[in-house]
Amino acid sequence: MDARDAWRRAGEGFSGSFGGRPAGVWWAPGRVNLIGEHTDYQEGLCLPMAINRHVVVAVRPRSDRLVRAVSSSRGPAPDVDLDALRPGPRDSWFNYVVGVLAVLAPSAGCDLFIDADLPVGAGLSSSAALEMAVAVAINDLFALGRTPEDLALAGQRAEHDFAGVSSGLMDQLASVFGRPGHALLLDTRTRAVTPVPWRPEDAGLALAVVDTRAEHRVVGGGYEARVREVRAAAAALGVPALRDVAPEDLTRLEGQPLLLCRARHVVSENARVRTVVDAASRGDWERVGQALLASHRSLAEDYEVSHPALDAVVDRAARTPGALGARLTGAGFGGSAIVLLRADAVGMLEEGLHEEFARRGWVPCGVQTFCPGDGAARVAEAV
Ligand code: GLA
Repeated sequence: MDARDAWRRAGEGFSGSFGGRPAGVWWAPGRVNLIGEHTDYQEGLCLPMAINRHVVVAVRPRSDRLVRAVSSSRGPAPDVDLDALRPGPRDSWFNYVVGVLAVLAPSAGCDLFIDADLPVGAGLSSSAALEMAVAVAINDLFALGRTPEDLALAGQRAEHDFAGVSSGLMDQLASVFGRPGHALLLDTRTRAVTPVPWRPEDAGLALAVVDTRAEHRVVGGGYEARVREVRAAAAALGVPALRDVAPEDLTRLEGQPLLLCRARHVVSENARVRTVVDAASRGDWERVGQALLASHRSLAEDYEVSHPALDAVVDRAARTPGALGARLTGAGFGGSAIVLLRADAVGMLEEGLHEEFARRGWVPCGVQTFCPGDGAARVAEAV
C-alpha cells in the first residue's frame, strides 16, 4: 500500500470506529534481516533492511486519560486507563501498543486505529512495526522530543515487560532507521547504525522473500530458550556477552556441547556480517550468497532454529540456476526465508517452490521481492 492508500484506509477506519477525523496518520515498516541472526541479544552485529510493508496508525489525542484502540484485522481492544497500563493476555497485539504508551507516558489518552499490509507471523517484524508506528505517532502528537533510538528502546521495553519476549533491538532499529537503497549495519553493543548501500539490482540480482506460511511465534518457547542458553555460554566463558568471544576461545566450552554449538553460531554469525558488508561493498555477490548459505547451516545445525519448510526453501534455492544463496530470516521456527538470485530467475524459483510445497502437502508459500525502504514516519495527507 502506498502513502495515499495508507492515509485513506486508516482515516476511514478511524472515522468508522471513533467518528470524526484522526489528528494524523503514521506508519512504520517491517524488516528483512539480511544476515546477523540471533546476535542482537548478545551485543552482536546484524544487517537488516526496512521493507515497503507497514503497520499504519491513525491517532487522535483525547482530553481524558482513556486509551481506545481498534485493529482493522483483530477488532477493538478493551479500553484502558493511561494510569493503569499493564500487560493483557499473552499473545495479544494490544500489549505492544500499551507497552509503548507505558514507556512514553503521553500527557493524555488517545484513540488509535491500526491497519497493516505487513503479515503477522511471517518473521518480518510486525510487532516491532506496530510498536514503532505507535511510538512515532505519540512522539509527534505529544511533542515528546524523543530520539529515534529512544523510540526503538521503548519498543524493546514493550517486548520485554508487556509481551514477555526477551528480544534484542534489531527489529525496532531497522523500523525507525530504514533508508531506501541501504541495509543497516547495527552494532547492538554501541547501538551505532551505519547505512550500507544495498543495491543488488545494479548487478541484475533480486532479493526474494519466501513466506513459508509455517507460522513463526516468538512469544514463548524456543526464542527464550536460546536467550537463556547463550547467556549461560557467555557466563561460562566469563564475558559480558558473546560479542567478546573469538573463535579460538570456543574450545573452552568443549565440555558443554550444547553451549558450544549455540556460542559457535553467534561468534561465526558476527564474522559473517562483516564478510557480507565487505563483499556487498565490492559487488562480490557470490561471496554474499555463500555467507547466506553458511548462516543458514549454522542456524539449522548449531542454533537449531530452522523448520522443515525453511530448509526446503534453502535446498530448492540451491538447486535453482541463478540463485547465489539463501537463509532463514528473523527468529526462525517458521516464518520467512530470503533468496539472493538473478532477477530473471525469480519466476523459476517460485514455480519450483510451489511444486515442492504441493508435493509435500504444505499450504502454498508466498514469494515477493523487496528493496530497502524508508523508516517510520508521519504519512502526509494527500491533497
Ligand atoms: C526476533 C527478535 C530480534 C532478533 C531476531 C533474531 O526478530 O525480535 O531481536 O533476536 O529474532 O535475529
